[in-house]
This record gives sequence, structure tokens and C-alpha cells, in this order.
Amino acid sequence: MSLRDDARSLAQDVDRWRAQTPGCATVVHLNHAGASLSPVPVTSAIVDHLHLEERIGGYEAADAAHDRLEAVYRSVARLVGADPTEIALVENATRAWDMAFYAVPFEPGDRILTGVAEYASNYLAFLHLKATRGVQIVVVPDDATGAMDVEALEALIDDRTRLIAVTHVPTNGGLINPAERVGEVARRYGVLYLLDACQSVGQLEVDVRRIGCDFLSVTGRKFLRGPRGTGFLYARASSTGELHPPFIDLHAATWTGADRYELRPDARRFENWESYVAGRLGLGAAVDYALDIGMAVIEHLVGQAAAGLRTRLAGLPAVTVMDKGAHRSGIVTFQHAQVGALVIRDQLRAEGINVSVTTATSTRLDFEQRGLPDLVRASVHYLTTDDELDRLVDAVRKLDVLR
Ligand SMILES: Cc1ncc(COP(=O)(O)O)c(C=O)c1O
Repeated sequence: MSLRDDARSLAQDVDRWRAQTPGCATVVHLNHAGASLSPVPVTSAIVDHLHLEERIGGYEAADAAHDRLEAVYRSVARLVGADPTEIALVENATRAWDMAFYAVPFEPGDRILTGVAEYASNYLAFLHLKATRGVQIVVVPDDATGAMDVEALEALIDDRTRLIAVTHVPTNGGLINPAERVGEVARRYGVLYLLDACQSVGQLEVDVRRIGCDFLSVTGRKFLRGPRGTGFLYARASSTGELHPPFIDLHAATWTGADRYELRPDARRFENWESYVAGRLGLGAAVDYALDIGMAVIEHLVGQAAAGLRTRLAGLPAVTVMDKGAHRSGIVTFQHAQVGALVIRDQLRAEGINVSVTTATSTRLDFEQRGLPDLVRASVHYLTTDDELDRLVDAVRKLDVLR
């Protein structure tokens, strides 16, 4: 097939994916980094299961869905290149990350190496253990492109370094951190590596073996287009199998005697017994949907849409794109010389265009280092059309006229 035929058939595919996404008919959705629009198979998986629960009872419906629930682990494992026994299904990316982080037996003086663009909830957990266990937080500087400086990371490792915790794609714009190169360093020094892949899985090809991380935390509702209240943790069997979850229940462990218990050997020891069963099925449907399209195709289309948006925004004199990194994600952030980010978001929403606002409370170190104001965040996906990008840019251009 020629390049032009390829492009034409991809455009037809995008039309089909959009037709399977009811939200595409009602809004210009540029908030996939917040919560994406789910396609019909995802919503149907959830609603069908809720109806089954309504008809036959929650426990009985879960039994009836047993094989499909097991298939969710296989789908998630395939998505990130893991074994199904290395996957725990949890409520969101933060819970996944916390279960991994708080399982690490930190001692006073242990060092955590992290990046400038680390996500707030992760950094809050570092601060918590700094206050309660005396760990040290070491922030690795950025390189000239704004990504984590991997040579600086390597130079900072010492025998007290207990964990490298990095956000792959930060919440506040553009940057894709060099996760694989970080992994090489972590392996070379035998340091545990926790990767926050909340914003990368679903928009980029992510393979845990290639990256070499020990833990990976992900959410369902963002670029994966799954339901809210879902997420998962990958825990490498060979390096994390001995780690005890921070808290356990009768699903994570079996009460084998009055003063004994046995922990599950697989990653499900990081789960709870009670869970949002319909949501898990929805997450599985979302993962299958992404796998059917192919992550390479998704990554290509996201990259194309994001580049198209950055080019368009660069043509607006009052607008400055604030993204970092040499190789960039589908998250585009910008500021306007006269109009604040919140005003822009509200104005756009009134016109049926969804964007969000990113603030210092999400990635404080980066905001302070760069002296950033609140930024508008427009996040694209493989569904995003040129027409939608034009609508956003026209609406932002009109803000000038309004003033
Ligand atoms: C980089 C990053 N990590 C973690 C999270 C937290 O994800 P969740 O809300 O699913 O816990 C977010 C949410 O925006 C994020 O952007």
C-alpha cells in the first residue's frame, strides 16, 4: 500500500473510532489526559454487568463473569509486556503507586531519587516518609531538553539509594522522560525502579521488559479510555516478589492459623477483595480496544495531532506553548499573554471545547523552577481531528478580539 493509501485508510479508521465514541458528536474533547471519552464497547461492558448484578446479584454476577475477569489480567499484561501474574487491578494510578511505594522497607537515611516533574501525590508520599521514617528525597536535575538528566541520575546513586521513582509523562505538558535509559541505570546498580506511567500507557507503546522497571502504575480513565475508578499495578515477579504490601486483607493473604497468614505469591496481593467488578470489565474492554487498534498506530496518531496543535498554537502571537522535552507527548500546555488559564478553560467549555488547567499543586517543583503561572492543558488522542484543532485555535484566537 502507498503512503497515501495508508493515510486514507487511517483516516477511515479514525472516522470509525469516532463513530464508536458518542462523545465525539457532542464535544471537542481535548482533555484525554484528564479523563478520555470511552467508546461504546467500554460503556457496554460496564452497563451489561451492572444489569446482570441487578438481575442475579453481585456475587453471582461476578461468578458468571469469572472467565472474562481473568481475561482482563491477560489483556493488561499483553498491553505492557508483562505476565498476568504480575498484574494487580486497583482503583486508580495513585493507589497502584502507593501500594508499591509503601511496600518498600525504607530505613532512616535511605535515598529516593526522583525528577523535577514528579507528580504531586507521589511527592507527597516522599514527604510523608521523610517526616515519619527519615528518608531523603533527592531531585535529579533536568538535562538541556527538560527531561530527566540520566547521567546526573547515575552520578547521584550511592549505597543508600533505595528507590528511583520517576513520572514517565508528567501531567503538565509535553515531556516524555527517558524511562528506558533510567531503567538501564536502575538495573546496573540494582536499585528498585517505580515508574508512574499514568499518562503514558494508552498513548505510547510501553513495555515493562524494555523499560526495565520493577513497578509500573497506571490509571484506566485517561489515555486508555476506560472507566473512572480503575487502574492497575505491574509488579515484576523476580524483583518485587518478596515485598509485603503496606496493608492486606483476606484476598491478599489467607488466614492459615490463629497467629499466621500466607501472602498470595502473585501481584494480586496488592489488590483489595472488594472491587468495582463492572469497572474492571470496562477496563478490560478499553485495553482490548487499544490493543485492537495497536499501540504503534495510537502513538503515531497522537504524535501527529500533538505536533499539529503545537504548530497551530505557535501561530497565535498571544500564546506561548510551554512544553518541555525533545520527544513530546499528546499533552500540550500553553499560556496566553492577557487571559488567565481558568478563564480560557471556562470560555472554551462554554463553546463545547474541553481543555483543563494545570497548576503548581500538581507538579510544584517544575512550576517553581520555571516560574510558571497556571497553564491551559489541551491533550489530544488518536481520535482528534484537524477540524477540532482548528476549532480550539480559532476559539483561543477570538479571546484576543474579546479584549
Ligand atoms: C502523572 C500522573 N500520575 C498520577 C496521577 C494520578 O492518577 P489517578 O488520579 O488515577 O490516581 C495523575 C493524574 O492526573 C498523573 O497525571
